[in-house]
Amino acid sequence: MLRDQRLSYRLAKNPYQPHLARIVAIKPQARDHKLFQVRFEDHRAADSFRSKPGQFVELSVIGTGECPISISSPPTRPGVIELCVRRVGRVTSALFKQPTNSLVGLRGPYGNGYPVEKMEGNDLLLVAGGLGMAPLRSLLWFALDNRADFNRVILLYGCHQPNEVLFRDEMAGLVTREDLECHLTVDTDPDKIWPYHIGVVTRLFDHVGGLNPATTYAAICGPPVVYKFVVEKLLELNFSKGRILMSLERMMKCGVGKCLHCSIGHKYTCLDGPIFTYWDAINLRESI
Ligand code: FES
Repeated sequence: MLRDQRLSYRLAKNPYQPHLARIVAIKPQARDHKLFQVRFEDHRAADSFRSKPGQFVELSVIGTGECPISISSPPTRPGVIELCVRRVGRVTSALFKQPTNSLVGLRGPYGNGYPVEKMEGNDLLLVAGGLGMAPLRSLLWFALDNRADFNRVILLYGCHQPNEVLFRDEMAGLVTREDLECHLTVDTDPDKIWPYHIGVVTRLFDHVGGLNPATTYAAICGPPVVYKFVVEKLLELNFSKGRILMSLERMMKCGVGKCLHCSIGHKYTCLDGPIFTYWDAINLRESI
């Protein structure tokens, strides 16, 4: 048995310890953002990994530490797990120095994920701002891979500038799909290279006709300003608070409800979230 396999088997005995996973590809995204494709070394870890859109993993860089990262790939495409990471701290900076083929640690998945069973048979409206596309991408591809289970699928994605758009080539392909209504925007386009809309993400609602709030689930992910203005817009359109889903990822450490780092009011983001309805969120202190 190889040393890595022995280590992986030993680690698997402890739920707080990660499984070894290999970085099989790294795809640069926007500045300070990379997509890491990772695969478990141990087939038992790979076989037992069952995620839902909206869940996260704890990723560790050996010798440095670990951090929570949303899963960007859908559970409909098992095997390789995609993690879109922004370089913001010690662990992500160390991760950015890892070359393809190096080993990292992975444990999870954690969190509640989107209530996809309840969402089936409804229209889906996904609204992402900036890095918010990373967790929403898992839900988007889940819906596209199970297209018959949903009615309209609509994606509204906005960034500040074109060079901040994540999954740029993929987005160009999504715009042309006939089974998806995909609208992209940037706030400003200083180099005049952007072929889509200009303006804040809420302006994209002008291009979506016939939204029925009684049969639509809206999933939002982005910086606080996106939540504020998109929720306002959805309430104006008579969406009920229970049909507005928000991804609130707060200072998660253990991922399993033990360390208290992620508590918002009486809820633990790692267990009760990170997906909350707006109804839940307005009852949580400091949630948005
Ligand atoms: S991350 Fe430790 S309790 Fe939630």
